[in-house]
Amino acid sequence: MCGIIGVVGSSDTLATLLEGLTRLEYRGYDSAGIALVRPGQTWRARTAEGTESVAALRRVCEDAPSGFSSGIGHTRWATHGAPEAVNAHPHLDCSGNIAIIHNGIIENHRELHEALVARGHLFTSVTDSEVLAHLIEEARARGLELMEAMRQSLLTVRGAFAVAVMDATEPDVIVAARRISPLVVGTAPGVTYLASDVPAILDRATAFYAVNDDEIVRLGPEGFRAIDLEGGPVRLHQLSIDWDLETAEKGGHDDFMSKEISEQPHAIRATLLDRRRRDGTITFDEMRIDDEELREVKRVVLVAAGTSHHAALVAKYAIERWARISVEVDISSEYRYRDPIVEIGTLVIGVSQSGETIDTIQATREAQRRGARVVAVSNIVDSSLAREADAVIYTRAGIEVSVASTKAFVAQVAALELLALRLAQLRGTMSPTDVDALFLGLNAVSAQVATTLERRASIELIAKELMGSHDFFFLGRHVGFPTALEGALKLKELTYMHAEGYPGGELKHGPLALIEPGVVVVAVATHQLMHEKILSNLAEVKARGASVVVVATDDDETIDAVADFVMRVPATEPLFTPMVDIVPLQLFAYAMARQLGRNVDRPRNLAKTVTVE
Ligand code: G6P
Repeated sequence: MCGIIGVVGSSDTLATLLEGLTRLEYRGYDSAGIALVRPGQTWRARTAEGTESVAALRRVCEDAPSGFSSGIGHTRWATHGAPEAVNAHPHLDCSGNIAIIHNGIIENHRELHEALVARGHLFTSVTDSEVLAHLIEEARARGLELMEAMRQSLLTVRGAFAVAVMDATEPDVIVAARRISPLVVGTAPGVTYLASDVPAILDRATAFYAVNDDEIVRLGPEGFRAIDLEGGPVRLHQLSIDWDLETAEKGGHDDFMSKEISEQPHAIRATLLDRRRRDGTITFDEMRIDDEELREVKRVVLVAAGTSHHAALVAKYAIERWARISVEVDISSEYRYRDPIVEIGTLVIGVSQSGETIDTIQATREAQRRGARVVAVSNIVDSSLAREADAVIYTRAGIEVSVASTKAFVAQVAALELLALRLAQLRGTMSPTDVDALFLGLNAVSAQVATTLERRASIELIAKELMGSHDFFFLGRHVGFPTALEGALKLKELTYMHAEGYPGGELKHGPLALIEPGVVVVAVATHQLMHEKILSNLAEVKARGASVVVVATDDDETIDAVADFVMRVPATEPLFTPMVDIVPLQLFAYAMARQLGRNVDRPRNLAKTVTVE
């Protein structure tokens, strides 16, 4: 999730780029860079000073030569390669004329890199992105115009990208393309802009156009034209944008939470990109534990807090089922102080969106001190948790601003299930065919989440009907239980109402005493095996006067008989259901909170990252 900006035909190029990057900075990037391009000269500057990167770039650019009417700029959120200046964009080809910026992941970058090196190219970074500069360099050497060079290069690339290229031998032209990662074009008289996000060019462009997947656009001072990957002409759809800066930063949503909920299909897709080698092996971002040691793992302990703890609970079911290793899940603040047992073969997995939650870091440190190997699942590259771990899987959900976590949760579940599949591969507890089938199924979840998001209006209606209720019990069984916990957490965080998550089987051991008219029971009933059991739980609460809301699959015909309200979701593999089933519960909590006039992005008394005990 990097930020991209470009301009052609400007009398104010440097200021436009720096201002655009500043506007993208609210997402918290780790490095920044620009390239100014004119006939025969590409001038580049890059800095990697964390959230101060754009300010540092501004200082470096005080020495920039003047007289450039075109350029590109980039703020980086590291995925491949540490957040250092050499890995910051733009990347140049061997000649230094061609500059590229890229947001996304090139899945086949290793093969492309090897082939390019064999053909004599010199690489200066450890990013996946740099291959694009060299591929385009080769296409240009075959005499192709920049747009055709981009098109032919992209035919060899797998993965996700919003990419822009400039070449000092074809100046005043930017060629850009998109697959999965967002890209918009903006126009004003005599100037054309490019950006990953509207805020970057909001008050400079007067008209905005969306670039779609697999479209390539050529920008010149006079405007732009677009083609598809086959080379046929396409028309870009004009966006009607009458946003102020604040709305633009939220992507047109009323708040970050709504934006982040809507980004979940992308968060899952991005987290799964580039995870499987050609031989089927599932890979992590960083791995300093050898396969033999991982194969010999005897016990897995997951430590986490808040929403991350709920993702960890889902992982328990997946690791035990697929890799047949016994798993324990602990709240990180508890693990640390309970004199934990770490034996040979104990693998500890720290799960944390921020990678900075003090309790989780202290828990993994304690485990390491006692001899455990630690895997980090973190959304922030180079977070403290990631730096200290022996292996890392990054969730690539992009920056999460809203205090209540949404897209980080689904990305964590996806990442942890990948980890479970890797352990199963190593231990041979599943056939390669079954691992492949699950990997493909995991990739399909993103579309199921997108379908569920389209049903937002029906959830809002349920929330309206239930306004005035104050007590909520969320029930689930199997992985529906962590989903219920997370649904209850969202509701209490956002609305300040009483909400509790329970395993359905525990109902009769206490909570049933609290059920009476006015209480709402929200049940997750998508797991086929557990379906009947949940139905009998619901009969028990209904008999005592509770209102019943059920998350059920599209094909479930039995549920209408017991439910007062049904939230429908597409059916998926049981262990994938938390990623889909949580969506209506997030939307429900969000809608209730909005009706109550709550600040959904900043609930009272809570912090996004808790760095104190
Ligand atoms: C805080 C946040 C939650 C988050 C929890 C754990 O309580 O408000 O949204 O789930 O910390 O944070 P982490 O960054 O470790 O996932």
